Amino acid sequence: MAIWTTLKAVMQFLIILFLAFFVAAQTPTAQVSTPTSWTNNISLPSVSYSRIILSDGNASAALFENKTISSESMVRGSVCAFYPVDYLKDDQFDPDSARFFLVVALLETSGYNFPDLSNYGLSNIWSANRNKPVRENATLQLLVDGNLELRDADGSLVWSTNTSNKSVAGMKMMDTGNLVLHDTNNNIVWQSFDHPTDTLVPGQKLVRGQKLVSSVSEYNISEGNFYLSVTSHGLLGFYQANVPQMYLKFFDHVWNLESIELKYSGSEDIALYVNAPEFGALGSPWLSASVSVRSRPGLFLKFESNGHLILHDGSMTVAHNMLTSHIPECDYPTICNDYEFCSNGMCLCPPGLAQGEPELAQGESESGCPAINATTCENLEYHSLLTYQNVYHFSYIDDGAAALKGTDIESCKKECLKNCSCKVALFRHDYNSLLGDCFLPSPVLTLIYDEYRRRYYKSSYAFIKTLNNKENGRGSSRSKIVAGSTIGAFFLVGLAIGFWFVFLRNKREEEEYMEDNFDKLSGMLMRFTYQELIVATGDFKEKLGEGGFGSVFEGTLQKGDKIAVKRLDSIGQGKKEFLAEVETIGSIHHVNLVRLIGFCAEKVHRLLVYEFMCNGSLDKWIFSKEPLLRPPLNWEIRMTIVLNIAKGLAYLHEECRQRIVHLDIKPQNILLDEELRAKISDFGLCKLIDRDQSQVVTTMRGTPGYLAPELFSSVITEKADVYSFGIVVMEVVCGRKNMDRSQPEECMHLLPIFMRKAEEDQLVDMVDRSNQDMQFHYSEAVQMMKVAIWCLQSDYKRRPSMSDVVKALEGNLDVEAYLDYTIHNPIKVAAARREAEQGTATPILPSLLSGPR
Ligand SMILES: *[C@@H]1O[C@H](CO)[C@@H](O)[C@H](O)[C@H]1NC(C)=O
Ligand SMILES: *[C@@H]1O[C@H](CO)[C@@H](O)[C@H](O)[C@H]1NC(C)=O
Ligand SMILES: *[C@@H]1O[C@H](CO)[C@@H](O)[C@H](O)[C@H]1NC(C)=O
Ligand SMILES: *[C@@H]1O[C@H](CO)[C@@H](O)[C@H](O)[C@H]1NC(C)=O
Ligand SMILES: *[C@@H]1O[C@H](CO)[C@@H](O)[C@H](O)[C@H]1NC(C)=O
Ligand SMILES: *[C@@H]1O[C@H](CO)[C@@H](O)[C@H](O)[C@H]1NC(C)=O
Ligand SMILES: *[C@@H]1O[C@H](CO)[C@@H](O)[C@H](O)[C@H]1NC(C)=O
Ligand SMILES: *[C@@H]1O[C@H](CO)[C@@H](O)[C@H](O)[C@H]1NC(C)=O
Ligand SMILES: *[C@@H]1O[C@H](CO)[C@@H](O)[C@H](O)[C@H]1NC(C)=O
Repeated sequence: MAIWTTLKAVMQFLIILFLAFFVAAQTPTAQVSTPTSWTNNISLPSVSYSRIILSDGNASAALFENKTISSESMVRGSVCAFYPVDYLKDDQFDPDSARFFLVVALLETSGYNFPDLSNYGLSNIWSANRNKPVRENATLQLLVDGNLELRDADGSLVWSTNTSNKSVAGMKMMDTGNLVLHDTNNNIVWQSFDHPTDTLVPGQKLVRGQKLVSSVSEYNISEGNFYLSVTSHGLLGFYQANVPQMYLKFFDHVWNLESIELKYSGSEDIALYVNAPEFGALGSPWLSASVSVRSRPGLFLKFESNGHLILHDGSMTVAHNMLTSHIPECDYPTICNDYEFCSNGMCLCPPGLAQGEPELAQGESESGCPAINATTCENLEYHSLLTYQNVYHFSYIDDGAAALKGTDIESCKKECLKNCSCKVALFRHDYNSLLGDCFLPSPVLTLIYDEYRRRYYKSSYAFIKTLNNKENGRGSSRSKIVAGSTIGAFFLVGLAIGFWFVFLRNKREEEEYMEDNFDKLSGMLMRFTYQELIVATGDFKEKLGEGGFGSVFEGTLQKGDKIAVKRLDSIGQGKKEFLAEVETIGSIHHVNLVRLIGFCAEKVHRLLVYEFMCNGSLDKWIFSKEPLLRPPLNWEIRMTIVLNIAKGLAYLHEECRQRIVHLDIKPQNILLDEELRAKISDFGLCKLIDRDQSQVVTTMRGTPGYLAPELFSSVITEKADVYSFGIVVMEVVCGRKNMDRSQPEECMHLLPIFMRKAEEDQLVDMVDRSNQDMQFHYSEAVQMMKVAIWCLQSDYKRRPSMSDVVKALEGNLDVEAYLDYTIHNPIKVAAARREAEQGTATPILPSLLSGPR
């Protein structure tokens, strides 16, 4: 054994030496001219079994100039290379059987010295021959006529740029990751950027008609089942099936979407820009993430094999789930294995199909939930169906896809039993009717178990086909339930009780399972013990503030990172619900929303751990009582803060698939980071309150002075946030509180004064005088006040959406011309309405209540 290890080490050393020799012998350049050819053999310099063809300046310096790279520095560059399939997975490389893709990849290294090239990492960003890997001895030729051809070892043409006679003079590896064929004037004739695979890098556009197609897996970069397509109706994500199943939809409100593009915005942000005529030449940044300048060369946005869109920083696993973070996991079409139910992002084996049922299991699937093999046409008499309520098929199934319409539950079951290829049938009906639609999905995508029916308007049953034990009654009680369902009524009662126990047991197991698996499944959320948080906060010593939901304390993690810990009181909710809501909040990421880092749910304790915002809340700045510590803000900072809040709210209202209404927007809930950029805190918290009390509680929870008038009559829409936002903008520009009890009676309320000035066209009087810079920008300030007045319309239907507010603030949309300056006294209005309606309560629309469902 020891000898073998030594031998292996010696071999490795020899290989490295050998490589070093060839590296020295054949140094790739960033640029070649026609004609040139490369053979995919060991003569090419190799990095992690990839053979390098071209490398840009930085990559060449790192690889071939024998520079000792200091341990702090990270070098990143682009290379074009033959990249072997599966080498990472197997860790066994056999050139005789290996298959290669021709790729462009980002190369990175840190702290390792030449010539140990095995320490360099490669991340694919493009491939020429995704679906047709080539062998050892394949050739890439840049021909005299300008065509770039990839031929396999047997000489067959695999791929070509089709650029014969297009006066190509040479080929270049650009440091952006673009592989370019150019003419004698250096004009681009062909570029890999025009043929995207599954990745976008900064500077690369995905234009209408183009799509990103996911890879089969991390290692097999052939085309997989998901694609993301730019259409004039938006950016749409599909799962490829007989009928493509849409599961993502973005920017569908944008007129004539032309392209999307990953671009830097500002010094530390990268954003997905949306280009459409309405946004002008620069486009509009949609979703942005903060990144350090250092990681810039290694950033890329990848459409992953599981259908997520992730921003990568080189090979680092730390990644931002840019577009798709707020989509509930269960809305991904292939999140779970066959027959598993997805519930709150977790995959569960349906009761009755649980482990340890040899009669049902005909081959175990990975998770241990047995695969069922009842899709043959043999032994039809042994096929039967297990019934589950509140199970829905992956969301986008449309009524037109129904196998039977206006049918009853028994006919639906029969339809599946008589069809050999039916694995699962779904029956969906309105609550007030026994008749409904029957679906036989193929393929069977995610089955969502949603016991609270939070997101669906219809009731749904799923029937899963199973194969009964043919031989005898050897089966356990559970399979007997399935088999015995046609036997006498007396027996049925017993069975019902049995099933009930089974179900209860499974429910309990499920809860335990959820607990145990929460850390794993919640992605980036950390779970803390109560003790850990006592230590982190020094037994809740440093109180940062107090809100409607509990108190916030400053804390420090062991690593030294500062945190803000919110201790929630009176949460009328079970642990399971709490975890589910926390997971939802934790999955919401936006630069203008305070990030949830983790949580604690132990006994009665419910705590949320947030990123620490060193400049505290906005009220401390705009109503500053310590001008030396917190000087009055200048125009630009105020403008940025207002825009930040607007973008954060627009995200909550419109971009989150599960719309969230904040219901408590006020300066105390706007936090500022070290650069005085604003982030909204406390979003999603209304959901933590007992659902049955939500009507009362939401009305009680809001803050006087910021409450929209219609809330008093229980009309709750996201426009309530727009109103509160209007108040905040007014306060920011005027530099004083809406309700200031320190002022004389007649000036106590700012809003009436503000509206009167607006009506008199004298808003300029209202601009904050404590900072001279504000006076220099008075016309812009007045413009912003007009946006505020638009948001403060008494009739909530006349208020703009938050995305319109963002456009108006950015000068891309005019403020509504006819503004209403009247103020409704909410208490009086509510009383009047109650009288008029004589007890006809306005029902709260469930979909609009305080957030995601
Ligand atoms: C690699 O291919 C080139 C071009 O065909 C050839 O000249 C060279 O000998 C080959 N090297 C090896 C090690 O097979
Ligand atoms: C790289 O540099 C080291 C010393 O700095 C030297 O010993 C080594 O031979 C060089 N290798 C090559 C391939 O030039
Ligand atoms: C590649 O070509 C060389 C000769 O150039 C040959 O010896 C070798 O067997 C070939 N390898 C494969 C895998 O075909
Ligand atoms: C080149 O032409 C072939 C045949 O027309 C086509 O299949 C292939 O996609 C083209 N290659 C590129 C890079 O456009
Ligand atoms: C390129 O030009 C040559 C000579 O003009 C012609 O024979 C050949 O067919 C052309 N090839 C293509 C692909 O157009
Ligand atoms: C190349 O390296 C230099 C120096 O480290 C760096 O400033 C530059 O941004 C790098 N360029 C790219 C494209 O990585
Ligand atoms: C990669 O996936 C494709 C499509 O599923 C498959 O045909 C091919 O065999 C796979 N390649 C490898 C090396 O597994
Ligand atoms: C299912 O049954 C068919 C036909 O009997 C068989 O070919 C197939 O291998 C079985 N699949 C599993 C997973 O057992
Ligand atoms: C049988 O079921 C499959 C789905 O499993 C469906 O696509 C097909 O249309 C059904 N056939 C008939 C005749 O209903």
